[in-house]
Amino acid sequence: MGFRFDIIWDYAPLILRGTGITVGISLASIVLGAILGLGIGFGKMSRYALISWPVSAYINFFRGTPLLVQIMIVHFGLIPAILGQSNAIVAAVVALSLNSAAYTAEIYRAGIQSIDAGQREAAQSLGMRPWQVMRHVILPQAVKRMIPAFGNEFIVLVKDSSLVAYIAVPEIMYWSNAIKGQYYKVWEPYLTAAAIYFVLTYSLSKLLQYVERRMK
Ligand code: ARG
Repeated sequence: MGFRFDIIWDYAPLILRGTGITVGISLASIVLGAILGLGIGFGKMSRYALISWPVSAYINFFRGTPLLVQIMIVHFGLIPAILGQSNAIVAAVVALSLNSAAYTAEIYRAGIQSIDAGQREAAQSLGMRPWQVMRHVILPQAVKRMIPAFGNEFIVLVKDSSLVAYIAVPEIMYWSNAIKGQYYKVWEPYLTAAAIYFVLTYSLSKLLQYVERRMK
């Protein structure tokens, strides 16, 4: 069969730009997802059913349905309904952020609830107000515990962003499909895609290990 890596060479500028788009949408989605997830996470912990119930429904929906389906709903339904027409990159970031928020919400909640109740009680008995307890006692410890989980979420997002090739976002997977379509070759484009994703996620995991070690 013979590998033809000259094919990849022809597409290299596009694959490179595609890698930039993969990194860009993953970065935007982890940030937006983390911000939205903060609201969702605290909403889930609310004692008011009027808040916690819809928030639970949100989390259950986004964790219980395939991301690919969510991408389709956002691209062909939600964004056109709001803006009149969709833009694939916007739809990709919105879908990934909404999805990621459901997972990061649980990271916040798990992190906060993992701090022993005795600490809150002790701080309150010293006369601290609830927000002071949160700010000075719970969060400094909880954030440390959340960091590895956030790192995993980021890695998942980089890999799962490949699904947005379905709505023609010109990222890594999109160009691999294009190469396959043009040359009827599968190994070259998909092994290249795998290698790029691997380099991205592996360096990310190394960076995370470093951050975790620093925080010990
Ligand atoms: N692979 C899952 C799916 O297709 C999406 C998982 C998203 N996970 C995450 N941590 N953001 O539905």
